[in-house]
Amino acid sequence: MPLYQTLKALNSARSSYKGNALGVVPTMGALHQGHLSLIKKAKHNNEVVWVTIFVNPTQFDKKDDLDKYPNSLAEDVAAIHEISPDINIFAPTASDMYPKGLLAITQTFDGLDKSMEGADRPGHFDGVITIIAKLFKTLQPHRAYFGEKDFQQLQLIKKWAKEQQIPTSIVPCPIVREANGLALSSRNAQLAPKQREEAGFIYEAMLHCKNNCLDKADVYSTIKQAFEVHPNFDLYYVLCAEEDSLKEVKELATANKPRLFVAASIAGVRLIDNIALK
Ligand code: PAJ
Repeated sequence: MPLYQTLKALNSARSSYKGNALGVVPTMGALHQGHLSLIKKAKHNNEVVWVTIFVNPTQFDKKDDLDKYPNSLAEDVAAIHEISPDINIFAPTASDMYPKGLLAITQTFDGLDKSMEGADRPGHFDGVITIIAKLFKTLQPHRAYFGEKDFQQLQLIKKWAKEQQIPTSIVPCPIVREANGLALSSRNAQLAPKQREEAGFIYEAMLHCKNNCLDKADVYSTIKQAFEVHPNFDLYYVLCAEEDSLKEVKELATANKPRLFVAASIAGVRLIDNIALK
């Protein structure tokens, strides 16, 4: 299994591939079936695949959150190996990726970053784009795979890539869920089994909105009521927004590709989810 832990090693491996089907899956490790679905798709559609594993410090606004982030490189390498032993893995150190210190480039995203995760986690998306720009620069992927689980991140990366004329197609991948509907996340490991089971109510409520609610006021009250029944969960935000602009819909009935976004926490663990409403 080709595992590269320095930029120098990566650069020399990358330069040996001259074809036009190189796919990249950027991750922060602690891989679960959600990540693995992206890797399988990349493997299916490309000649060469790179998975990057790097817990990117500049996208964390809270040091405590960064410190708690799980690290399981040996297990991650084994899980990737099971998909295919020829997938390349790049797992650098922070000083390799940020030789001049932990600085993020400040971006403007036409307001796409002003709501939801961008509003709740200042500087988060500057950190995400900074690391993606560095990874794209060295790997020069033809395709890069991102999950709809982090829908705002996906839309921002698409917008940034288009504006910067980056010749990489950004491939969206559907959300993988646990049996009870909870979206898979590396953070789920921090939940007690009972909390993890209970957390399925979030998706149930979202699905109920998709199937039954006719306007956004209905959606908001359905979600708020669901959280009232589960008082140990805190609702951070609930928003019905159009997929492309991420602006709040005016009327659900006439909205273009409306999506419901929810963020919540239990015992300090942040959970986010979203669902297409039409
Ligand atoms: P991470 O949270 O490790 O996620 C890596 C990729 O896996 C992201 O594109 C994310 O949307 C996708 N993913 C996570 N859970 C998923 C699920 N349940 N179903 C489908 N896809 C899922 O997102 C990041 O890392 C970082 O911000 C990164 C892009 C790597 C930049 O540091």
